Amino acid sequence: MATIASRSQEIIEQAQRFIPGGVSSANRLVEPNLVFTRAQGAYIFDAEGKRYIDYHAAFGPPLLGHCQPEVQQRVVEAMSHTDVIGVGSSDLEAQLAEKICEHVPSAEKVLFCNSGSEATYAALRLARAITGRQKIIKFQGCYHGWHDAILMNVITPAEKIGQRDPLSAGMLPQAIENTLVLPFNDLNAVQQVLQEQGTEIAAIILELIPHNIGTVLPQQAFVQGLRDLTRQHQIVLIFDEVVTGFRHGLGGYQKVLGVTPDLTTMAKSIANGFPLAALAGRADLLDHCAPGGDVFFAGTFNAHPASVAASLATIEILERPDSYAHLFNLGKRMRDGLAEIVQRHGITATVAGFGSIFLLYFMEPPIESYTDLLRNDAKKFVDYRCALITRGIYELPVNLKRNHISLAHSAADIDQSLEAANEVLKAL
Ligand SMILES: Cc1ncc(COP(=O)(O)O)c(C=O)c1O
Repeated sequence: MATIASRSQEIIEQAQRFIPGGVSSANRLVEPNLVFTRAQGAYIFDAEGKRYIDYHAAFGPPLLGHCQPEVQQRVVEAMSHTDVIGVGSSDLEAQLAEKICEHVPSAEKVLFCNSGSEATYAALRLARAITGRQKIIKFQGCYHGWHDAILMNVITPAEKIGQRDPLSAGMLPQAIENTLVLPFNDLNAVQQVLQEQGTEIAAIILELIPHNIGTVLPQQAFVQGLRDLTRQHQIVLIFDEVVTGFRHGLGGYQKVLGVTPDLTTMAKSIANGFPLAALAGRADLLDHCAPGGDVFFAGTFNAHPASVAASLATIEILERPDSYAHLFNLGKRMRDGLAEIVQRHGITATVAGFGSIFLLYFMEPPIESYTDLLRNDAKKFVDYRCALITRGIYELPVNLKRNHISLAHSAADIDQSLEAANEVLKAL
């Protein structure tokens, strides 16, 4: 029989033998290469049974906590009488679409798919179809998924800023060339490009808060300016709320800012860990995707009843008056606690975040664009997180990654994490 200590190693060896790199998603392989076999509430457990307070949260989905019982129960109920029927409208799907349209300001209609990448892919195709134009604008530091049009310029090395930085071999050169990459929060740069090429631009897509580089808050004037300019130039404005959707409110971060895009993409936490994504927006645009319309949208597993049931349960829980108060209070408790520790030890660091998201950059402010983050001490950032992991606090040990608090976290979890942060920061 395998000793307890070798169970992780056994799993790693088996995975590496049959899966390239041992993982099915490029971002999952990090050092230390831990194997987690159980998740419950605010915690994940490795194959040896050690418990960690989880702030990585699979990049965000379990907003209510892992294996949330009410969500699980609704999924089991749905799966007890259906699986995939694959024809016609479904009752759960219709209910969920109505709920999303009730909550998300830009959502007059909504289509479901399985991942954020599919949603952004469909949004860009729809924008190209509507405008008859080919080019799109994205911003340095934003991630929108793995397809050719947008897989570029996220955590770009300093020497490549201002150039295209594709993240995979095999991407179609024409797709890369048709994507313009501009600095976040820089409305002048957008204005200038639109003056020259406005009639060629189909869409502007952005993460409202670029959480793929931590938390860079948008200036209200920047987002409002994008709204005004896209109207002026008949460009489709897409807010990618794959991270922020539901996490920062049932209406997404667009509701917080009070700026409404033409299209919105959501995924991750909308079904609390079940695979579901949504493309929502103006009815006159989404109607192009209706069967027989000029834009094709399909998928065998789209609006899978398990995920849809999970999303309906998630919304019900988030609609309770205390849910966001709990999430946001814990976020503030963590950010305030970290700021106090940093100040006490005289460390060069900046606490960032919004709502239930937090992180510590090892640099001074200001933080307004990706270029500012080149001043972050990446080694310290990763060393700090590795030291936390040894103390049972899991923050993904990769430069610039954000952390997520869930409804299952307690004030005691936050305080325990702050105690560990204090020890580590003192030693750093
Ligand atoms: C803002 C944003 N958009 C899109 C995606 C792609 O989503 P998925 O990984 O579900 O394809 C991600 C994933 O991290 C994301 O953070």
